[in-house]
This record gives sequence, C-alpha cells and structure tokens, in this order.
Amino acid sequence: MADNKDDEILGKAYDSKLMKRLLFYIRPYKKYMVLAIILNIIVAALGPLRPYLTKIAVDDYIFHKNYMGLLWIVLGLFAVLIFQSFMQYLLTYYTQYLGQRTILDLRHQLFAHTQRLAARFFDKTPIGRIVTRVTNDIESLNELFSSGIIMVFSDVFIVIWIFGFMFFLDWKLSLVALSVLPILFYGTFLFRKKVRESYRDVRFHLARLNSYMQEHVTGMSIIQIFHKQKEEYKDFSNINADHKKANIDSIFYYAVFYPGVELLSSIAIALIVWYGGGEVVQKNIQLGVLFAFIQYTEMFFRPIRDLSEKYNIMQTAMASSERIFKLLDDDTMIHNPAQPLPLTDLQGAIEFKNVTFAYNEPDYVLKNISFKIEPGQTVAIVGATGAGKTSIINILTRFYDISSGEILVDGIDIRKVDKKELRKYISIVLQDVFLFSGSIKSNISMNNPEIADEDIYRASRLVGADKFIQQLPLQYNEEVKERGATLSVGQKQLISFARALAYDPRILILDEATSSVDTDTEQLIQQAIEELLKGRTAIVIAHRLSTIQNADTIIVLHKGEIKEMGNHQELLAKRGIYYKLYQLQYKDQERIKST
Ligand code: CTP
Ligand code: MG
Repeated sequence: MADNKDDEILGKAYDSKLMKRLLFYIRPYKKYMVLAIILNIIVAALGPLRPYLTKIAVDDYIFHKNYMGLLWIVLGLFAVLIFQSFMQYLLTYYTQYLGQRTILDLRHQLFAHTQRLAARFFDKTPIGRIVTRVTNDIESLNELFSSGIIMVFSDVFIVIWIFGFMFFLDWKLSLVALSVLPILFYGTFLFRKKVRESYRDVRFHLARLNSYMQEHVTGMSIIQIFHKQKEEYKDFSNINADHKKANIDSIFYYAVFYPGVELLSSIAIALIVWYGGGEVVQKNIQLGVLFAFIQYTEMFFRPIRDLSEKYNIMQTAMASSERIFKLLDDDTMIHNPAQPLPLTDLQGAIEFKNVTFAYNEPDYVLKNISFKIEPGQTVAIVGATGAGKTSIINILTRFYDISSGEILVDGIDIRKVDKKELRKYISIVLQDVFLFSGSIKSNISMNNPEIADEDIYRASRLVGADKFIQQLPLQYNEEVKERGATLSVGQKQLISFARALAYDPRILILDEATSSVDTDTEQLIQQAIEELLKGRTAIVIAHRLSTIQNADTIIVLHKGEIKEMGNHQELLAKRGIYYKLYQLQYKDQERIKST
C-alpha cells in the first residue's frame, strides 16, 4: 500500500505557507471574499440581537402591559429575522460562488499541468491518484474556500458577541452559564483527536476500496474466465468490511459527541433556570434577563461545537492542498530550449548518432544506436519482444529524453527545437490503439480544425476504413464508447491509420500490433500501410513480412543494440539473426499465404 502514502498525510490544521499559496487563488476574487466577510459579520451580529429584543419585550412591555410597544417589538423581531434570512441567502450564495470560482481555476491549472508532464511521470504515478487530486482533493479545498475560512471568522465573532451581551446583562449569571465550558472544551478536544484518527482510517480504507474496484472492473473478463469470482469476492468483502468498521468508528464518536453537547447545553440552561430563577424571585434581576440568558446559552453552544468541525475541514484542506501543490510542483517534463531553432518545411531525414537511453538509469534499453534515414525512405525495425523497438519511437518523438548521443531531423538536434514543432511533422500509430470518447470523426481528426471533413473521408477511404464505417448506423458520427470497446481490434487499427493519414505527416511512425487479424482485414491493413508509407519518411516496427521486405533498410535490434542492418536480400545473404528469424517466423507466414 506504499502508493497510498500520499493519501495518508494528516498535517496541521493551519500551515501558513500553504495558506499563503491558497490565498493566491482567491486573490482574483478578493471582492467576493470581502463581501462574504462583511455579510458574515452582519449575520453574526444580528443573531444575538433577538434575545436582547425578547428581554426588552418581557421587561419593558409585557410587564407594563404596553400592547402597542409589544407589537412594535414583535414587528422589530420579525424585521430582524427577515433581514437576517436575506443576508444569510446572500452570504451562502457568495461564499459558494467564491469557492466554485477558485476551484475552477485550480482545476484548470492542474489539468494543464498534467498535460505538460512527461511520460516518465505517468510511468510512476497511478492514474487513480491523479484523478483523486483533480476531484476529491480539490473538493475539500472548495469546502475550505466556501465555508471553512470565512465561517471560522464568524463563529469566533458570534461567540465573542454573545459573551458581550451576556456580561452586559448580568455578569454573575454569565459565569453560571459558562461554568460548563471547561467540560465542553475537554470533550471537544477528545472528540477532535479521535475523529482525526478515524478519519485517516476511513480515507485509507476508501483508497484501498477504490483501487481494488478499479483494477477488478478493468480485469473483469480475466476474473470470469479463470472463475475467480468467489475468491475476488472474498477479498473485496474483507476490504469492504474494514471500510465499514472505520466508518462506524468515526460515526460512534459523532454519535457520542453531539448528544453530549446537547446534554451540556441542557445542564447549562438548567443551571440558569435554577440560579437565575432564584435571582428573579429575589428581585435581583428582571424576568426578561432570564429569558435572554436561556436563549444566549442555547446560542453559544452551536458555534463552539461547529468550530471543531471547522477544524476538521481545515485539516483536510491543508492535507489536500499539500498533495495538490506537490503535483503542481512536479517538474517531470521535457523542456523546450530557451531559444528553439525553427523547423520549417521539414524534408524528413532522420539520423541517430550513438544514442543511449534508459527509462531508469543505468538500465540501458538502447545502447549506442546509430542509423540514418533519407527523406522518403522506409526503415523497418525487427527484434524480439522487449528488444527496444518501441523505445526508439519514444525518444524520436521526445516522449523521453536520451542519456547520450544525438537524434537529428534534417540535421537539427531534436532537443534544439520546440517539441510542438517537431511533433507537428510526425504522425504515429501506436501498438495499442487509443480511442477517445466522441465520434469516429473526431477520433480521426483529433478535433483539429485544420482537418476538413473531406480530409477525414479521403484518409478513411485510402486506408480502407471507409467500408466498415459506412456500415455503422451513424457512420462517421457513430459514438465511440469506452475506448472503443464496441469496435474490433482490426477496426480500431484502421481508424488509427486514418488518423495518421489525415494529418498528412512528413514522418510516419508505425508500431504494428502483433495481434492477428483475419486474412481479409490483414489484406486491408497491408494496403492501408502501403498507402500510409507513400512519399514519407517512415519507421515501421513490423511483423508483417511484406512490409519488411519492401523496406529500404531493416534494422535488427537485439537487447537494445543494432546487430544487423541492410535490406532484405542483404540480410538474408548474411545468414545471421535476421536469417534465423525469417526461417522461424516469416517463412511459415509465406507458406500459409501461398497456399
Ligand atoms: N521499459 C521500461 N519502461 C517503460 C517501457 C519499457 O523499463 N516505460 C523496458 C521494457 O521492460 C523492455 C525495454 O524497456 O525491457 C524495451 O521496451 P520496448 O522498447 O517497449 O520493447 P519492444 O521492442 O517494443 O517490445 P515489443 O515487441 O514487445 O513491443
Ligand atoms: Mg513495442
């Protein structure tokens, strides 16, 4: 569970450094913040007015049978209530607005940042974790912005304000009412500590539950085919039970704390009635004061109780912001040079010069690779699985940077140009096709406005994808569901060919999937590939003999090193690795085809 370490952070409830950075996001909406604080103070100030008005009603009007005055006071009370409700409405609206605006910006920034991160980052970060940052963690910041920070002000303000009224009315009675406070503080302290621990437990178990669920839904067909439902169900039950237990623990503390606070508040009121009642009988205080005190006592328990909840909000938000900032500060990126060289009208010459590369130094997966491709030529790379074929593509497109050596396009080091410029000239068909949700059309054009519908149809026709697309109910507007789950592997491949061709790239990279398709589709794909290669520089990681045979150069890769290089005839004549490969694998294919 080392992956969950980040999710277990349970820091301080207030960290000035984090807070400063968070406030930076509020800055553009400062006026809403100020407005919210002012509204808050107004709302907070209005509440304690009501008991005071009650006191005046009782002592000055009810006792003196002044009905007119009483009516005015009641109207006054009513007006205060209406006004307070209206202010409360504005307050709720603007605080939520503030929160939503702030997290909108933050989410944008997080997503944009994630888009800039390099492949290396995604190699080491589980997807679930990034999703959690953009959803849960940001949500807890929303709570902080929209209620946490501002409400803490108002809770403190209300408590002070109420105490002020109480002491102004009668200090002895105030002391009686406040006598339960030490118990309340101690109880709150215990509660906070326990809830904090159980909260961490809940979070931990929820993370486990989520990742288990994600993995097993994704791999459902494997579970079903190996008939592992029972075992998996048992595992899941255990995780689920742990999660339930953690939740029940935390509910237990709430279930004890809230009624406990109620009880204390009743005790405080009982004390007031008992002591204050005596004072009223002895005519030391007026009856209205007693009324007011009962209401004040009820009133000040709520903000004190809420403060402990705010403490949790603060703490969660601080931990979340720490995780979010950690992601935002992650600098696993392929940087552009400060002054990129222009890359105009690329011809498509590619040269690797003594290139060495590792995903994790010093485990080199490519060693001392040198080769040259003239514009318009096709190079095929063959080699066993894990030989480093895909890695060659990964470094040519700058998904990863190399450790040493040089990669040149048209004689320019690719590290000296803007990544965007470089990639503009390259199209790539990956080993496993990735389709996005959206229409087939948008999957081919990748929503590039420069690609007209005509280009999409032409590309599809050329690679032979047109035929099956025409048969779909909505044709090019057919929705691609869940990464193309409703399409066959061959169909997905044809779509990805159309995608590559629609871009009309100078350099085409093809990482052929090994998956076998039926002979018809095989032929379609073969024709598609021929169409794709025409007039472009191409690097093809090939498994199909015909593609390889027609290549200008074949590179034989073995454990990250180039062992042989030449065209089909030359390599056969050499009687080396390629010859053996050919004997083992390709000859069979030829025999099958010719029969
Ligand atoms: N590798 C790695 N980290 C990655 C990708 C690959 O460490 N993110 C390693 C693999 O374990 C492998 C080596 O790099 O040992 C070469 O991988 P690759 O270039 O993908 O191999 P291919 O020749 O493309 O193999 P295949 O035919 O199976 O696609
Ligand atoms: Mg590969």
